[in-house]
Amino acid sequence: MSCQLSVVSIKPLVDQIFLFMLTTDSPVGRPGALMNELRTRTAALHAATEALPLMRNLMAPEVDAAIYRAYLTAMASPYALIEPHLYARCSQALLIRLGVRPKLPALQRDLAALKIPLPPAHSDQSDDLLHLVRDEAEALGGLYVLEGATLGGRVISQRLKRNLGPQAETLPFDFLGTQADPSPAADWRHFSAALENEVCLQHHDPERILGAAVAVFDFLHQALSRSVSVSESRDWPQPEAAAARLRS
Ligand code: HEM
Repeated sequence: MSCQLSVVSIKPLVDQIFLFMLTTDSPVGRPGALMNELRTRTAALHAATEALPLMRNLMAPEVDAAIYRAYLTAMASPYALIEPHLYARCSQALLIRLGVRPKLPALQRDLAALKIPLPPAHSDQSDDLLHLVRDEAEALGGLYVLEGATLGGRVISQRLKRNLGPQAETLPFDFLGTQADPSPAADWRHFSAALENEVCLQHHDPERILGAAVAVFDFLHQALSRSVSVSESRDWPQPEAAAARLRS
């Protein structure tokens, strides 16, 4: 349901606010505007993340199981910090309205299947996150990043399966999902509409959602860029080397 319809149908005061928003360039002025703005503001970080050596190698035709293992390991550390933090900032009712589900358990199942130990959590990074995402409005921005990563993850998984060939059959794909799983596109459409509706109805300042999305994307990007490079990842796991990089 679009913000437009929900607000107009509620009460005249909100109706007036909505009319005001329509006359401005507000990112909640029309359906889809906030999602477009989120995409625009995080586009440079998305491109920079795709350009990281680990990500480029993950998408390359020469990808192998070691690179896939390095990718899952690199994702585990930031996800283990970010996802529980975002979910803890939201009420259960909001999570249901957004239709979101944690992805960390699937990531942990993949790591366990590959016998990769969970990378250690770092308390300084967890403190950073406390400042980046302080409440429900900011958690919405962070959830945009995680839900978008799930959507893009399906594209990564399809490419990986093609490039890995028969090797892919021996690897777990709970986190990225496979074509056998329901498409994330419907969940994404639901999430997008619910997020915009939420921002409108709760009168959240859209700049706070946008700012938090950029901050959480940057947090993930930084964590991934500190993860081992692909040449090192071929000797993965090297817990000491990985921990040293995360500390630096
Ligand atoms: C090799 C690395 C990556 C590739 C190739 C990739 C690719 C993609 C693709 C193809 C989409 C569009 C999916 C669709 O519309 O069906 C997408 C969306 C998205 N991805 Fe990524 N992605 C990568 C990594 C990441 C990471 C690590 C994050 C999180 C930090 C992320 C966050 C997002 C977000 C937020 C969107 C939604 C953009 C929107 O508003 O439409 N991606 N990605």
